[in-house]
Amino acid sequence: MLKQTPKAVIVALDFSNKQETLAFLDKFPEGKLFVKVGMELFYSEGPAIIKEIKSRGHHIFLDLKLHDIPHTVEKAMSVLANLEVDMVNVHAAGTIDMMVAALKGLTCQAANQSKKRPIIIAVTQLTSTDEVRMQKDLLISSTLEETVKIYAQNAKTAGLDGVVCSPHEAQMIHENCGKDFLTVTPGIRFLDNEKDDQVRITTPEKAKLLGSDFIVVGRPITMAKDPVLAYERCQQEFLKG
Ligand code: C5P
Repeated sequence: MLKQTPKAVIVALDFSNKQETLAFLDKFPEGKLFVKVGMELFYSEGPAIIKEIKSRGHHIFLDLKLHDIPHTVEKAMSVLANLEVDMVNVHAAGTIDMMVAALKGLTCQAANQSKKRPIIIAVTQLTSTDEVRMQKDLLISSTLEETVKIYAQNAKTAGLDGVVCSPHEAQMIHENCGKDFLTVTPGIRFLDNEKDDQVRITTPEKAKLLGSDFIVVGRPITMAKDPVLAYERCQQEFLKG
């Protein structure tokens, strides 16, 4: 199943409510997008927003980054499987046992309903965490790169489909975890964009060259003067080069 997963641009719907979200999606009456719904939108609108977006035919990455004891995460994943989203995630820091439990909850519930299991990926280290913070605050003495590598290997050991990472880490992760292990990469900007609060940015074209399987793009599309044009440019650069 996953080998056939095409590369895709995922549009981050970082809006605070349904009105803004649907106003944005209305600009794409024909196109079926792959969108990311994060905590802000999900917590403000609840599962109804997922049903609404799905009813328009879009694919959904539900970015809730679960991290709790294995039993709780397994049960929570069963509930998320009912939403029939296309991709979900957890924190690799929750341990291999927690990731195994997450996969179990998702797989069992999807099988019960004869539905396709959503892709499940792990966050290795947040891109907002730099090496100094990781070592000082989290007491992880390894380098950031080594930590990302081991967390990705843990996700693979647990049976997960891939990780969220920087495009600059995609090649190293594919070398360690295999080319079919997915890399989902935010931090994307066109050459003429502002960096905003992202630190290590990459163009869609460069992300493709670096081996990203999915790029997550927010403001360069959502805040563009013409979001449809920006989305098409992104697709053109990432998918066709
Ligand atoms: O607007 P921008 O393109 O920076 O949005 C990137 C999206 O990817 C946001 O939803 C952000 O929360 C998410 N993300 C990220 N870095 C990570 C994980 C998620 O930027 N490490």
